[in-house]
Amino acid sequence: MNDLVLKIENLTKIYKLGKREVQPLTNLSLEVEKSEFTAIMGPSGSGKTTLLNVIGCIDKASSGKIQIDNIDVTRLPESKLYKIRRDKIGFIFQNFNLIPYLNARENVELAMELAGKFQGQRGERAKEFLATVGLSGREQHSPQRLSQGEQQRVAIARALSKDPAIILADEPTGNLDVTNKKEIVKLLADLNQKQGTTIIMVTHDEQVAAQTQRMLYLNDGKIIKDKQSQKDAILDSPSKSKEAY
Ligand SMILES: Nc1ncnc2c1ncn2[C@@H]1O[C@H](COP(=O)(O)OP(=O)(O)OP(=O)(O)O)[C@@H](O)[C@H]1O
Ligand SMILES: [Mg+2]
Repeated sequence: MNDLVLKIENLTKIYKLGKREVQPLTNLSLEVEKSEFTAIMGPSGSGKTTLLNVIGCIDKASSGKIQIDNIDVTRLPESKLYKIRRDKIGFIFQNFNLIPYLNARENVELAMELAGKFQGQRGERAKEFLATVGLSGREQHSPQRLSQGEQQRVAIARALSKDPAIILADEPTGNLDVTNKKEIVKLLADLNQKQGTTIIMVTHDEQVAAQTQRMLYLNDGKIIKDKQSQKDAILDSPSKSKEAY
């Protein structure tokens, strides 16, 4: 079981709103192996974003235990937690969250700089990551000069550039039209298949989820279904096909 990149045991999350309590996650346990591509589905308010935020060390568990890349992050102080968030997690958001006054290459380079990765070769590596997501020649474009799909590609390059243990994507295709949606989910699936990138993706879209190997259904803060996709049977295990993308 050394290849576990995420291990969650009995996670409960409670928000206190004055005298009221909201409990978006209840006693949730989950194991994710390296190179898995997992979709999380479930109705609005079922706790999907809360779960990603806790995994991404943006938010803390109220109880339970969380290990990321074999590091117990459950009770780490913020001074250590930010390093896990910075070094181990790549985030992809529905609305891209690019820095508007930096161009595509600078957006990617900044992530590497903050994570202390690839010192001395960041410009070159940023170009390579942008090429990986199909954006060669667009390095100098600022976000407003890129289409929605292209902006999400920059965000994916930015996440990859940190060489993270896990990429967390919260509805990454939610703001995209049908064509871009298909292209972005294909890109994520390719990265997973060819580079073995571990991805956990929240989506409302069955067609998007169908591109993954595993679907988790959340309801009321609990995993009510954990389904391995049939794709698994016909595709090579990603861990066996990690040749360069
Ligand atoms: N910071 C917070 N403070 C208080 N309550 C919160 C907070 N974040 C989330 N919640 C509550 O937790 C529950 C789960 O929210 P969450 O955002 O995880 O749902 P979701 O499954 O991502 O929904 P959606 O599909 O609409 O994005 C909701 O009832 C929400 O109001
Ligand atoms: Mg959400």
